[in-house]
Amino acid sequence: MPRAESRHIVVRPLEHGSDKSTNFGAVITGVDLNDLDDKSFAVLREAVYTHSVVVIEGQENLLPANQFGFVQRFDPDASPQHGFGYGKSTKELGKLGKKPFHVIPHSLGGVTLVGNGYQGPDHYGLREVTLDAVSHVDFHADPLPRERLGHGETRFNTFHFDGIIYGSHPSRVTTFRCVKAPKGPDVTVRFDDGTGRTIQCAPGSTAFISSSQLYDCLTAEEKATVDNSFWEPAPHPFAWSGTRGQRSTGLGVNPGRSGGNTVPLDQLPPWESHKVHKYPMVWINPVTGAKGLQLMPDIVLRLHLKHSPDPDGETRVVEDQEEIHAWLNPIYDRFFGPEYILIPPCQEGSMVVWNNWVGAGNRETGLRTVHEMDTLLIRIPY
Ligand SMILES: [Fe+2]
Repeated sequence: MPRAESRHIVVRPLEHGSDKSTNFGAVITGVDLNDLDDKSFAVLREAVYTHSVVVIEGQENLLPANQFGFVQRFDPDASPQHGFGYGKSTKELGKLGKKPFHVIPHSLGGVTLVGNGYQGPDHYGLREVTLDAVSHVDFHADPLPRERLGHGETRFNTFHFDGIIYGSHPSRVTTFRCVKAPKGPDVTVRFDDGTGRTIQCAPGSTAFISSSQLYDCLTAEEKATVDNSFWEPAPHPFAWSGTRGQRSTGLGVNPGRSGGNTVPLDQLPPWESHKVHKYPMVWINPVTGAKGLQLMPDIVLRLHLKHSPDPDGETRVVEDQEEIHAWLNPIYDRFFGPEYILIPPCQEGSMVVWNNWVGAGNRETGLRTVHEMDTLLIRIPY
């Protein structure tokens, strides 16, 4: 078979229905990620940053090591390992550490197996592995009862970007390759926020929102604030979030103590202040220059609010968790609805790649088998 070249690559922006406000996503064909020259990579990089989320079809034979190499080309200086979980436990990762990480052999240490159920006697060198998928039940303050889950109803788990966010920065891009897609009727994703809203989608789908579209929904005054403000995650942020739960939409922390409590800082595993980075609220797309409002609400320890670029301007540090979420949740609620949620088409063999810094948050609704890869960044991402 002749080698695929950059001129064979077709980038087709997704068409959105008239009921949608989403303006991102593309499907790409005509490329072989096992054999990717520099020109072809440049086309793909441009597409990822232009469309935020791309689905590269036809990657059934992609080797895990080449998936690792592809992600690393987005940031060659990044630490060459998966961005989450290695050698860590519930002590550092809280509930995210409850499920074991399965690293695929010969993937240069970087690609993990994610999904649900028995994966066969030998899955890319992983023998007799049975996966237990993370579900919204693990994260929501008030999850759906188990019997409802058995009737095709679910929720978005938790919209987030990928990274351990302690001692390293979030990966520039994240990828997953769909190895096995679940069969069966569509599921109903419930918002359960009092609006009665739902979304129908294929089981195992992954949903994305655009932090650039979120930014665009702000008023001029709010933009001036977020442009000049920072947020500070807690050390060992996923352990710190403790028993606290998400709202039923999967976006934003449940108000009040009903959802649980964070862990006091002096009861966390040992941590060093130089490993806790302060992040801007607004992240800039390196190709388009678009701004995105990018926070991870469930791990915010402090907000550093400043309303203008004036170097002598006042910065107000907000530490009260109720105040933090009383400020954040209405911003998300104004924006967050089915019209702004993209669930891209993804078949077996498709590789989904997204801009983890600006473009989109995501969350799986279910149970397919995927090979997932992001990286640990050591450089400050702005
Ligand atoms: Fe993720």
